[in-house]
Amino acid sequence: MAYSEKVIDHYTNPRNVGTLDKSSSKVGTGLVGAPECGDVMRLQIEVDENHVITDAKFKTFGCGSAIASSSLATEWLKGKTIDDAVKIDNMDIVEELALPPVKIHCSVLAEDAIKAAINDYRVKNGLEALVEEKAH
Ligand code: FES
Ligand code: FES
Repeated sequence: MAYSEKVIDHYTNPRNVGTLDKSSSKVGTGLVGAPECGDVMRLQIEVDENHVITDAKFKTFGCGSAIASSSLATEWLKGKTIDDAVKIDNMDIVEELALPPVKIHCSVLAEDAIKAAINDYRVKNGLEALVEEKAH
């Protein structure tokens, strides 16, 4: 399969690989797995008192498209409010990375990880949990 240049770029030079302090109340952690292939993604956000994401890190055990999707997601997350971040749609990632149909679930993993991280942050900070569950 031919990967797009953007996938190869993010795969060979992933942005924001790493770990944030899971125990901090400012940090939200999302850990999700893809049933299609067993790949696992952890995505973390650090959020300030205005609910703006100041940092984002990921660690993905998976295919190149999943790594590229999560790398791109961390770039997009920084500087967004959690309310804007929750609007990131996996199809935006598919479009940006020109993912082929068999790799769409890799981008779903990233969207799910973002939502899980935001939810973790919200629950930790006494905000209402996200209810919206998107049917993929
Ligand atoms: Fe091969 Fe995900 S199916 S790495
Ligand atoms: Fe399963 Fe990419 S996350 S193949």
